[in-house]
Amino acid sequence: MPLPATIPLPGGLAMPAIGLGTFRSRGQEAADAVGWALAAGYRHIDTASIYKNEEEVGAAIRASGIPREQASQLFITSKVSPYQQGTEAATAACEASLRLLGTYIDLMLVHWPGVAKVDAASPDNAALRRQTWRVLEQFQRQGQLRAIGVSNYELRHLEELLQYAEIKPGVLLRGCGVLPKSVQRQRIEEVAPSRLAECGELSPEGLAALDALEEQQQCKYCWDPSAIA
Ligand SMILES: NC(=O)c1ccc[n+]([C@@H]2O[C@H](COP(=O)([O-])OP(=O)(O)OC[C@H]3O[C@@H](n4cnc5c(N)ncnc54)[C@H](OP(=O)(O)O)[C@@H]3O)[C@@H](O)[C@H]2O)c1
Repeated sequence: MPLPATIPLPGGLAMPAIGLGTFRSRGQEAADAVGWALAAGYRHIDTASIYKNEEEVGAAIRASGIPREQASQLFITSKVSPYQQGTEAATAACEASLRLLGTYIDLMLVHWPGVAKVDAASPDNAALRRQTWRVLEQFQRQGQLRAIGVSNYELRHLEELLQYAEIKPGVLLRGCGVLPKSVQRQRIEEVAPSRLAECGELSPEGLAALDALEEQQQCKYCWDPSAIA
């Protein structure tokens, strides 16, 4: 199935389906990568407070000259880290991300269902992530966050969230986007949205191999949220 250009979010927002990933991109390297990506036609940048590059992402966006006030032009995702869960910390996290990026945020995610330095089995995880969600709802109502959502939540975390959410998470329509990450100009440009048609399609064997990663091996290649209460 061809990748759509955008994925619809509640409230009429459209998230560009290809976004530049910025995990482990820091300092000038991050700023350069974002600048090259925007020049190559990317309009979605995925950052997070824990990536420690929001200031460089914001500066690169301003330097690009792409008008932020035309809401459809750019889409910035950031995330509240596991160290920032709970009312006070999440409030400070949103304020800091907004200040560092220097603009409103199109999609703010709770990065992880757990809380740093809290035992994975502790009920404090659920209580604190509930407080975090309330904070995100408040910032969305104030217009500083255009959509809010979660990442790395298991189904049971989502079901719990839906019981108390006054604003439902934004990316529940589960359209599938991709976040290629590179700090190398050639690699960034190779998979730019405008060059998607040149990329060709995965073979049926390639697709099956990808499906097998999840369906047969049942392994996680990064953090595993299954133990988080
Ligand atoms: N919400 C979450 O919890 C979460 C979790 C994981 C990822 N993400 C987001 O998704 C993005 C992508 O994550 P990921 O895990 O797929 O990638 P990743 O591990 O963050 O980075 C991709 C790696 O592949 C390399 N690379 C890029 N293009 C390549 C190419 N053409 N040939 C060979 N190597 C290449 C990059 O190196 P160079 O930079 O040197 O090119 C980098 O080391 C992240 O950056 C982040 O924004 C979010």
